[in-house]
Parts: sequence; C-alpha cells; structure tokens
Amino acid sequence: MALARIAAPSLAALALTLSLSACGETADDTVVAESEGGMAAAPADMDILEVRHENFEGIGDAFKVIRGELENSSPDFDAIQANARIITSNAVLISDHFPEGTGPADGADTEALDTIWERPEDFSAATEQMIQASQIMLAAADSRDAAQVQAAVKELGGACKNCHDQFRLDED
Ligand code: HEC
Repeated sequence: MALARIAAPSLAALALTLSLSACGETADDTVVAESEGGMAAAPADMDILEVRHENFEGIGDAFKVIRGELENSSPDFDAIQANARIITSNAVLISDHFPEGTGPADGADTEALDTIWERPEDFSAATEQMIQASQIMLAAADSRDAAQVQAAVKELGGACKNCHDQFRLDED
C-alpha cells in the first residue's frame, strides 16, 4: 500500500497508518491516537499529496538532467541511464497516487484537476503513454546513441504535456 512510502509524516500519523494497515478492520479502536488541537484525522489521505509531489519532482529533475546531458558534446550516458531508470520506476507509481478524495473538489491543496477523477480512463491512458515513453527512454539510454536519446526526449516530453494539458492546473 502506497501510504507506507510516505516521505516525512509526523510520527503519530505514521504510527497510526502502520497500525491501521496492520490491523485491517479495527480502525475504529485506534483512531483516537492523540490528535493535536482537535484537527480531523484527514492527514492519512493527504500524505499521499506529498508522496505524489515527490514522485513528480523526481521525474522532473531526472528529465532535466537528461536534457542537460544532450547539450554536452559528449553526453554522460551513465547519467542518462541512471535518470532514465528513475523516470521509469517513478512512472509506474503514478497510478497509485490519485485515490478518490485527493482532488481540489475535496479541498486538497493540489495542482491536480478534478478531470482525473471525472475521466479515469483518459487519465489511465495518459499514464500508460508515460510508462511507454519512459521505456523508450530507457532503451535509448542503453543504446548510448545521442540521436536516439534525443528522439526519446521528444516522446517523453509529449507524454508529460499530454497529461498536464488535460489533468494538471496550468499555473503560468
Ligand atoms: C498521467 C499524468 C501525468 C504525466 C504523464 C506527467 N505528469 Fe507531471 N503532474 C501531473 C499532475 C496531475 C501533477 C500535479 C500533482 C499535484 O499537484 O498533486 C503533476 C505535477 C508535476 C510536477 C510538479 C510537482 C508537483 O507535484 O507539484 C512536475 C515537476 C512534473 N509534474 C513533471 C512531469 C514531467 C517532467 C513529466 C514527463 C516526463 C510528467 N510530469 C508527466 C500529471 C502528470
């Protein structure tokens, strides 16, 4: 379950999450773990926002490194490969990061649009396109051929844009 990967939750929230996943049904008994200042027990769901933010940041940073390498006359293909791996492994996690209840309509502080939950099949297709593009990138990195990596950058950039255009708040 994705919640186990939370980056830096409060210890109380983590303990609660762990005890909930460990005990399954007995949630009702455990929820009383001292909440500070009477805050509702929302954080368990909202921690996923941090997780998906970090996952996209990782993708964004890795993609930047790859594009930067292509500007060198002799690109570091080890770096390209390592970052292509990050993108590939983060891409397959995307679909776990958008549970019901974590969109703007639910009051979440997020750039995700409600269209994600309104058109789940289109969102899945966009995620699938991203996974495929990341695999093309990984193969290109393995080939150590700058032209292939360049083509893969185009493919991958298209996958980001396709999803962001439909499902992410356009902030600029
Ligand atoms: C399947 C949809 C999808 C794909 C594909 C996708 N993104 Fe995103 N991305 C999003 C959504 C939705 C958000 C907003 C997440 C949020 O605010 O909760 C986001 C946010 C981001 C962020 C900001 C981090 C954040 O959470 O605020 C970066 C950086 C980013 N994406 C980079 C990329 C790059 C680079 C690619 C392609 C290599 C990519 N994304 C592909 C949907 C996608």
